[in-house]
Amino acid sequence: MTEPLRDIEACVFDAYGTLFDFNTAAAGARDELGDDWQRLSDLWRLKQLQYTWLRGLAGHHAEFWQVTGDALDFALAQLGIERPGLRERLMQLYLRLGCFPEVPAMLNVLKQRGIKLAILSNGSPAMLSAVVSNAGLEGVFDAVLSVEEVGVFKPHPAVYGLAAQRLGLVPQGICFLSSNGWDACSAKAFGFRVFWCNRYGQPPERIPSTPDGEISDLAALPGLLAG
Ligand code: LAC
Repeated sequence: MTEPLRDIEACVFDAYGTLFDFNTAAAGARDELGDDWQRLSDLWRLKQLQYTWLRGLAGHHAEFWQVTGDALDFALAQLGIERPGLRERLMQLYLRLGCFPEVPAMLNVLKQRGIKLAILSNGSPAMLSAVVSNAGLEGVFDAVLSVEEVGVFKPHPAVYGLAAQRLGLVPQGICFLSSNGWDACSAKAFGFRVFWCNRYGQPPERIPSTPDGEISDLAALPGLLAG
């Protein structure tokens, strides 16, 4: 049972998979991908995350745009998909991901209650500004923060530190939300209060720290922030 959190001054959201649905990129090319679209989407996402962790460990940071393209190349090759122009089409679709249906109204409710709103994401500034604007969410966030400001991907603690510093808040005053269990645990280890938005019905990660609670989508969030 997820209990409400008190004294939250800001909500900080992960972007991909939490506010924005990465599946809408491959789904948008279903006419070319046919039944392979979901397999491609799953593998693309998995490799994208793996490459962020591998680059972080090796000290070989590159922008998320590069990593996303590299992961797509791997996924297309693994599935034996070769079609002229498809890679470029999918990358452009990644800049126009749809947001999850409950997101705009939920953000509006929180904003009206005076809660600060921010995005904290691996995405590069150009990628984030494209998806925010495509979803009609311009002007909603107090800050759209990219790991590019610290030059390392999640879950490096410097990334979570960036949000606290830029919002001018102690970590305990921030509620962090991510659909990625590993991101939720790592944000909790940093000191945020955290709800894991378990959209994909995954089991808990076996890594240090446990989020304060679990929700299945973001519609429940306003009801879980008490005063
Ligand atoms: C992000 C990825 C981890 O937006 O979803 O940072």
